[in-house]
Amino acid sequence: MNGRNYTIITEFILVGFSEFIDLQLLLFIMFLLIYIITVLGNLSIILAYTLTTILNTPMYLFLSNFSFLEICYVTSTVPKLLSNLLVGDKTISFYSCALQMYCVLLLASTECYMLAAMAYDRYVAICHPLLYSIIMSNKVCIQLIGGSWIIGAANSLTHTTLTFNLPFCNDHKINHFFCDIPPLLKLACTDTWINQTVVFIVAGGVIVGSLILTIISYAFIISSILNIHSRSNKAFSTCSSHFMVITIFYGSGMFMYIRPNTKYAMYHEKLVSLMYTIIAPLLNPFIYSLRNNEVKLAIRHSLSLIAVDKY
Ligand SMILES: *[C@@H]1O[C@H](CO)[C@@H](O)[C@H](O)[C@H]1NC(C)=O
Repeated sequence: MNGRNYTIITEFILVGFSEFIDLQLLLFIMFLLIYIITVLGNLSIILAYTLTTILNTPMYLFLSNFSFLEICYVTSTVPKLLSNLLVGDKTISFYSCALQMYCVLLLASTECYMLAAMAYDRYVAICHPLLYSIIMSNKVCIQLIGGSWIIGAANSLTHTTLTFNLPFCNDHKINHFFCDIPPLLKLACTDTWINQTVVFIVAGGVIVGSLILTIISYAFIISSILNIHSRSNKAFSTCSSHFMVITIFYGSGMFMYIRPNTKYAMYHEKLVSLMYTIIAPLLNPFIYSLRNNEVKLAIRHSLSLIAVDKY
C-alpha cells in the first residue's frame, strides 16, 4: 500500500534562517553575542548564590535554579543554530533531532512550573511574611523544584514520542531553526490530527495550568498590596518586572502550541519562537535580579572571591 512510498529518514535538514542569505554572518554574530550575554548573566546569578551567603533565601534558591535552567535551555538550541549559520552544513541526525526536541520541551515546561513556584514564593513572602520561613522550608522548595522537573519530563516525553513515531517521507527539510513540534508535524506524511489534538490538550494544559497558578499568586499579591495603603513600592516593582518575563514567555509559547491549526507561515513562527527560546532567557537575569541591589552586591562579592582565589 502506501508503505512503500516511505523511505527511512536518517537525518533532517534544519533550514534555519537561510531565507536571509546575505545576513548569515550578521545573524551569527548577533546570536553569538546574545548567547554569551545570556550564559554570563545567568552564570553570575548562580555564582552569586553559591559563593556568597547574602542571598541565602528560598527566593534566590529558585532564581539560581531558574538561571541554571535558562543556561541549559539556550544551550539546547543556540549552538546548533550558530554552527548552521557559520558552516552551512544544516543536517541533523534523526536521533539528535529527537534529543533536541526532548531537551527543549523538558526545559521549557519545567520553566513554566518554576515560574509558578517563584510566584508562589513571592505570594507567601508578601501575604504571610511571618510564616514565610515555616511555609517555605527546605523540603517544600525541593518538592516544588522536583515537581517542576517531573511535570516537564512527562510532558516532553509524551510529545517527543508521539512526534517521532510518525512516518516521515521524502521531505526532510525542517523549516525552522530547531526541532520543534509544529514544523515536524508538517513533514509527516500522514494525518497528524491526533498529534495536534494531544499538543493542544496536553501542552496547552501544561502551559495554561502553570499560567493560572502564577496568576492566582499575583492576584493575591496585588490585592494585598492595594489593601495595605502604605504603598509597598519595592514589592510592586518586583512583581511588575516578573510580569514582563511571564508575558513574553507565555505569550509566544501559547501562540506556538495552543491554537487550532497551523496555518501561519513558518516565517512568523520562527520569529515568535525566537522570543521564547532566545530573547526571554536573555532578559531574565536582567529583569529578575540585576536590578536588585542585593543581587548586585552578591555578584560583586562573588567576583572578588574568584579574583582573590587566583592569587
Ligand atoms: C537548585 O535547588 C536545589 C535544592 O532544591 C539546590 O540544592 C541546588 O543547589 C540548586 N541549584 C542551583 C544551581 O542553584
